[in-house]
Parts: sequence; C-alpha cells; structure tokens
Amino acid sequence: MKETILVINGPNLNMLGRRDPAVYGTTTYSGLKTELKAYIVGLGYKPVIFQSNYEGKIIDIIQRGGYNAIIINAGALSHYSYAIRDALADCPAVKFEAHLSDIYSREEFRRKSVITEVCNGSFVGMGVGSYLRAIAAAVEKMKT
Ligand code: DQA
Repeated sequence: MKETILVINGPNLNMLGRRDPAVYGTTTYSGLKTELKAYIVGLGYKPVIFQSNYEGKIIDIIQRGGYNAIIINAGALSHYSYAIRDALADCPAVKFEAHLSDIYSREEFRRKSVITEVCNGSFVGMGVGSYLRAIAAAVEKMKT
C-alpha cells in the first residue's frame, strides 16, 4: 500500500485567494489543493488534503493516525494551540510545518509558533513553495 501524506490547513486557509494577496498570494484554496495533490502523487505518495476552521477537528485527524507524514499549516492556531502541539507530539508520523508568509518578519504575535518544536522542520515565507518544500523534506525524512 502507498504511503500517505496528510496536509492539514487550519483556520481561514479556505479563504485563500480572497485573503490579503500581498501576504498570502493569489492562489485559491482549491488551486492549492490541486497543486499539492499533483505534487504528492508525482512523488509516488497518496495525498490526503484536509482543512478545518476548528481546532478539535484538526486534533481529531492528527489522532486518527494512519499517515506516514503530516504537513501542517495551522494558521493562527500555530501561535497558541498547545492542544495541537500536544496532539502532534503524540503522533509518530514525520511532521513538517509550512506557512505561506514569513511569520518571523510579521507582527510580534506571529513570530512564535508553538508547534515548531514538535515538528521535524518548518518552511515559511515561500507561498505555496513552503508546502512543496515541506513535502519534499518529509519524503527525504521518511527514507532515513
Ligand atoms: C499563516 C500565518 C498565520 O499567522 C496566519 O494566522 C494564517 C496563515 C501563513 O500561512 O502564513 O492564517 O499560517
């Protein structure tokens, strides 16, 4: 059976394309999904692309398991959700964090992600490229 890569998108990422394009780019959420699916399939993995505006639903899908790698952009929850951090910490999958914008050069409250420490790495500030690099890194990590 093919190994699975789960991509999790948190609150407001369903609004991509309509959110401040100077910060988040012009790709719509549907465009993002299509691009990520094609990239993951091209690398020989099975994609599962998930989005929720609800913290608990994000925790539920992390806890469900069965994924070899997780790529997560938890949106604003990245900055304060210890519950998502704990769920990720308990999850044995390879985990990479992605952010469209460079959270380290924005408002003070965005400069800390509480999930970074429980991930294998993070990619920020490259738009959709942050996800693509996170996926490529996850694939490398799964081979080690
Ligand atoms: C984001 C950055 C967060 O601070 C913000 O709340 C988002 C998107 C990003 O991808 O750049 O919703 O995670």
